[in-house]
Amino acid sequence: MNPKHELAERPDFNVYVSGMNATVRMKWNDIEKYIIPGKIVDVGCGTGELTKIIAKKFLDSQVIGIDISDYFVQLSRKNTKDLGNVEIQQCDIVFKEFEPETITTKIFSSVIHELVSYKGYNKEIPKKVIRGSFRELKPGGRIIIRDGVSPGDYEIYIWFNDKNGINELDHKKNIKLNFKDLSTEARFIRFCLQFKGKEWDYRPVRINNKKLYVLDAHFAHEFMSKKEYVENWDVEALEEFGIFTIEEYKQTLENADFDIVEIKTYKNPWIVKNWYENKLKLYRYENNKLNELDYFPTNIIIIAEKPKETN
Ligand SMILES: C[S@@+](CC[C@H](N)C(=O)[O-])C[C@H]1O[C@@H](n2cnc3c(N)ncnc32)[C@H](O)[C@@H]1O
Repeated sequence: MNPKHELAERPDFNVYVSGMNATVRMKWNDIEKYIIPGKIVDVGCGTGELTKIIAKKFLDSQVIGIDISDYFVQLSRKNTKDLGNVEIQQCDIVFKEFEPETITTKIFSSVIHELVSYKGYNKEIPKKVIRGSFRELKPGGRIIIRDGVSPGDYEIYIWFNDKNGINELDHKKNIKLNFKDLSTEARFIRFCLQFKGKEWDYRPVRINNKKLYVLDAHFAHEFMSKKEYVENWDVEALEEFGIFTIEEYKQTLENADFDIVEIKTYKNPWIVKNWYENKLKLYRYENNKLNELDYFPTNIIIIAEKPKETN
């Protein structure tokens, strides 16, 4: 991490901030009914918008927002300064320990994947944070996770639009162009060079006169989940968004002794319309036939509870 406690040098923080704020109402609608009032922790509170909505709704609760970033700690303090029930703390959540059995709800909104992406892609880190959260929660307290979700590892065929921008597929020339000017196909080529800072495998094929790429579904989803973040592309290209499948999330929480209250994935219709349709199509190739598939889920929501009576 750099000396300013920013996870990444984003050329344009404003774009990142507007992106977060644009989705905050949807996030709130997804989680509101599951929150147990009392002591609520909003982990990786970012702009503080969600923290503010929570604090206004639960005026009798103590709401603590925590974030590692200087920029976001300042912004969320500013955003919540008029609310007497909010405190913003600056810390790395991997090392932060609240007193055992003191928290009623701990919220991780778009944060779990960052624990992996900015910490060497080590999937043990979110598992450790989830186990720690179990200790901190009161019996009957809840962890709420809203994040990306991996479709898993299996072979997929994809068609990319090659006409909606510069279709430069030569790697050396592609890397010199501005990401936002590229076609979806050319963006994919760039992604293969940059994701997690290494080169990724894919295979171009032609079936029924259609140009397709064969690759792993997890990898395809990673491209799909960030290919429109054109302003901060070099940073976004490094993040892994769907770190676990639904099954892996479930296992991780159950291994930490949580009871699952609800776990569901869904497709954000705005993303499907604006990011996927006319830009890419997914297929399975079986018995010499291409079968079009539904797009992958864009998000997962998990509500898990610490059992009221622990042995
Ligand atoms: C994608 S933003 C999400 C912000 C907000 N929760 C929301 O849903 O709009 C992730 C936030 O988590 C913070 N973050 C990432 N890793 C962290 C860590 N290890 N400790 C504390 N905060 C962290 C980042 O600084 C950033 O503000």
